[in-house]
Amino acid sequence: MMQTPIKASKTVIITGGNSGLGYYCAQAIAQSCTNWQIIIASRNLPRVEEAVQQLTAETNYSFIEGMTLDLASLASVRQFVQDFQTREHPP
Ligand SMILES: NC(=O)c1ccc[n+]([C@@H]2O[C@H](COP(=O)([O-])OP(=O)(O)OC[C@H]3O[C@@H](n4cnc5c(N)ncnc54)[C@H](OP(=O)(O)O)[C@@H]3O)[C@@H](O)[C@H]2O)c1
Repeated sequence: MMQTPIKASKTVIITGGNSGLGYYCAQAIAQSCTNWQIIIASRNLPRVEEAVQQLTAETNYSFIEGMTLDLASLASVRQFVQDFQTREHPP
């Protein structure tokens, strides 16, 4: 079982991270890093939340969260930036 520290030191945002290559990229990071905050950013919130739950269960890594981001919409990209800034994650 991997122990995670209390605070993350770095943030990685994985677009399209709820499936396919993005999902497995998130899984690989969670299995090999101890203190990176992983953000799964994709356009469908229920699918994002499901992926976060599954990744957390598979890896026992606690720094994983989901955010909504539709890269086909500039309004969604701007909203994502605003939401991200309020979360005060590390760089
Ligand atoms: N260079 C290479 O050799 C190579 C090889 C394989 C793949 N790729 C590329 O790598 C990427 C991922 O491949 P994959 O097979 O993992 O694809 P995939 O299974 O189709 O996954 C695509 C992911 O992107 C998300 N997505 C699609 N449109 C989006 C949008 N407008 N905003 C935000 N997220 C969006 C999807 O979310 P939803 O669940 O909401 O659809 C899904 O999570 C693709 O761009 C593919 O072309 C490159």
